[in-house]
Amino acid sequence: MFTLDLFSDLPRSTGNRQQLGPGAWLLEGFALATARELVAAVEDVHQASPPRHLVTPGGFTMSVAMTNCGRLGWTSDLRGYQYTPVDPLIQRPWPTLPPVFLSLAARAAEAAGYTAFSPDACLINTYTAGTRLSLHQDKDEQDLSAPIVSVSLGLPAVFLFGGARRTDPVQRYEVRHGDVVVWGGEDRLRFHGVSPLKQGEHPLTGARRLNLTFRKVNL
Ligand code: SIN
Ligand code: FE2
Repeated sequence: MFTLDLFSDLPRSTGNRQQLGPGAWLLEGFALATARELVAAVEDVHQASPPRHLVTPGGFTMSVAMTNCGRLGWTSDLRGYQYTPVDPLIQRPWPTLPPVFLSLAARAAEAAGYTAFSPDACLINTYTAGTRLSLHQDKDEQDLSAPIVSVSLGLPAVFLFGGARRTDPVQRYEVRHGDVVVWGGEDRLRFHGVSPLKQGEHPLTGARRLNLTFRKVNL
């Protein structure tokens, strides 16, 4: 355990891939080469549209802090989940998708077999020690033919990948700085989540894990 914990702070070797399902891949280190630019772009988005803890329709405050960039952003409040063109916190459009985000998302999708991925939304999650994301499906998008592309930056985490039903068995995969998970096709609606983040310090993100999920919302 101890040695595993030690090594999980190191970036992986780039290029290995694990198949998580017929349409789902973990691309190890795929974003490593652009990680520094990606983190800098996240900090810019955070300046404009700060991360915030949203309330679920059930009245719970999420432990993940969220913001978005792109034409649309995912939000939640007591009325439900929705994609909006305006950040409700600042009453202005979400920051635009940085070119480095768009090109990375398209290249990762392509590497997983999804051509011409052109996301219109990027949810940016911030995790600190203890932050978790309970099992859920990404199903608020109209366009379910496009995959979800999820980029991990900073501290490592355990990504939970379940099945089509909430009660299906869950696989656990470690996701490290620079790793990208892509799921689409028959895996598009699989339940997924993140285990409580362990405390740590990362040279680029400090005590945080940042996660970008790219989505194609509108057809
Ligand atoms: C998500 O499901 O929106 C994020 C997954 C992750 O943080 O790895
Ligand atoms: Fe999700």
